[in-house]
Amino acid sequence: MATLDFDERAARHIQRVYATPDVVAQRLRVLELLDPRPGERVLDVGSGPGFLLDAIADRTGPQGRVHGLDPAPAMHAIAAEVTGGRATVRLDEGDAAALPYAGDTFDAAVSTQVYEYVADLPRAFAELCRVVRPGGRVVLLDTDWDSVVWHAADPARHRRVMAAWDGHLVHPHLPRTLPGLLRRAGFRVTGRHLVPIFNPEYDPDTYSALTIDTIAAYVAGRDGLTGADVDAWAADLRDRGEDYLFSLNRYCFVAERGS
Ligand SMILES: C[S@@+](CC[C@H](N)C(=O)[O-])C[C@H]1O[C@@H](n2cnc3c(N)ncnc32)[C@H](O)[C@@H]1O
Repeated sequence: MATLDFDERAARHIQRVYATPDVVAQRLRVLELLDPRPGERVLDVGSGPGFLLDAIADRTGPQGRVHGLDPAPAMHAIAAEVTGGRATVRLDEGDAAALPYAGDTFDAAVSTQVYEYVADLPRAFAELCRVVRPGGRVVLLDTDWDSVVWHAADPARHRRVMAAWDGHLVHPHLPRTLPGLLRRAGFRVTGRHLVPIFNPEYDPDTYSALTIDTIAAYVAGRDGLTGADVDAWAADLRDRGEDYLFSLNRYCFVAERGS
């Protein structure tokens, strides 16, 4: 199954979704847990559109250094706009499984919605552990796609759509195994937090409304779902009116590198 391709169109859509109040609130929570301090060196793995880089750079200040690592040039192009050429922010092309940094480089690292796309997680977390200094902290947030509640008229069709959507990730249920993976890589898990997204009504400027488009584009033509099936699924959700309801759980883990 092919995971999402972060080309220019997808990158612009992600920029739009990640500017919704739902994802702004999530980012503030992650920032609070990361607690970047003046002068620190911080890594954002899979930095995408760069909103978090910008917010971290505000906290680490002129003596700090924030690196955004991402393999997708289209994402870095948006991150360059969002961070406005700040001298304290670096955008590095690379992969979570082979970080292009010397050992013990960072005081802290963060990654949101990224490791679920990375095939070799033991290797990627060994890399993360290598580049964070002893005693340094990491904050990781990922989704479990089994946690979605979405009020659809045709539950069987909805289940088929969501099963096909699972294919957009290598690990659609990563939070279940994340603490164990971190421990085995050399981290001590110090915090576990639930970060839900709740859209109790249909509003075009929400995470779920915009994600209908992303899911529809991905699942059409997969697992026997026709364009007509997917259009009907999307139209039903958009027409739910007062009966619309969406929720999803994201899980955030805070850990510290052992010495
Ligand atoms: C859903 S976006 C999240 C972006 C950003 N972390 C945020 O929350 O705003 C996923 C990002 O992970 C990046 N990515 C995918 N595979 C990766 C890998 N193997 N190593 C590092 N980043 C990766 C993508 O290019 C994309 O920018």
